[in-house]
Amino acid sequence: MIRPLLAADIAACQLLTHEAQTDLDRRIGETPTELTDEVAVRRHRRIAHLHQTDPDSAWVAEVDGAVVGVSLALVRDGMWFLSLLMVHPSHQGKGLGRDLLDAALTTATDRSWILSTVDPAALRRYQRAGFDLHPSYTARGPVDRSRIPAVQGIREGSYDDDRGLLDRVVKAVRGATMTPDIDYLAEGPVRFVVADDAAGHGFAFLRSGGVVWLGATTEDAARRLLWTSIAEAGDEVEVDWLGGNQQWATDVCLDARLGLKGGASLCLRGQPTMSPYLPSGALG
Ligand SMILES: CC(C)(COP(=O)(O)OP(=O)(O)OC[C@H]1O[C@@H](n2cnc3c(N)ncnc32)[C@H](O)[C@@H]1OP(=O)(O)O)[C@@H](O)C(=O)NCCC(=O)NCCS
Repeated sequence: MIRPLLAADIAACQLLTHEAQTDLDRRIGETPTELTDEVAVRRHRRIAHLHQTDPDSAWVAEVDGAVVGVSLALVRDGMWFLSLLMVHPSHQGKGLGRDLLDAALTTATDRSWILSTVDPAALRRYQRAGFDLHPSYTARGPVDRSRIPAVQGIREGSYDDDRGLLDRVVKAVRGATMTPDIDYLAEGPVRFVVADDAAGHGFAFLRSGGVVWLGATTEDAARRLLWTSIAEAGDEVEVDWLGGNQQWATDVCLDARLGLKGGASLCLRGQPTMSPYLPSGALG
């Protein structure tokens, strides 16, 4: 049975997301993310936030009274984005993923998009649902500090003072603001840096090990933000969503001597391509 997600389901959704992600990582030879308290809290907050902002796009699959699948989408300024689609490994291959996606798509707009994992079932469903698949690379590797150039004009972002800048930049790049999401981001442990000068405006949200969301009005600003993110990442860095139209980012990653691996796809149905932009897996 597919039914709307309730607040009481969030803990189960968080756990089944972990199981599905871990199973996928094993299938594709990646090291699964450990379920630390920090990871569990982050996933729980994400589901709770989107359930609050977009309850009509939040669904679960229930089998024998247990929640075994979840789909979550968000709509911002007429743009639809699929944030989560997971089915517990022991219930995959029975049509639940398709039904959960169809439920989430009931709120889809004429500007809809998805960031797909490499799971063949996911890629098949998205293509069959009318999304064009745009393959991308992930860049990964140890940070060689000798290759990082001196970067000018990047400063620490402030959730109090830079809301206008975040909204303007993200609206310019993807055609939808992040207003409903800023308080959620501000309450989390996520830092961000900004570019705000004559050469361009932009932001990069940072997490240990990489950049989780980057947008800018010019490639000059985007490059400086990405170099700053790499410099702040720690010993290892990962940069995702290097699609064909993000050559500025591929160029920076190759200059940093990171290795490229392909597989994941940006899936677009009416949403124009976005650049310079490294999207947020959770928020689009
Ligand atoms: C992707 C996922 C949600 C699909 O859920 P599911 O319940 O297994 O999906 P379904 O049973 O509805 O199958 C979906 C489609 O994929 C097809 N499929 C299943 N396994 C496949 C495979 N190995 N190769 C190609 N197609 C496959 C099915 O035939 C079905 O297509 P159809 O409806 O046209 O017949 C689930 O596998 C999952 O949680 N994967 C790990 C997490 C993930 O990658 N999520 C996607 C986030 S973007």
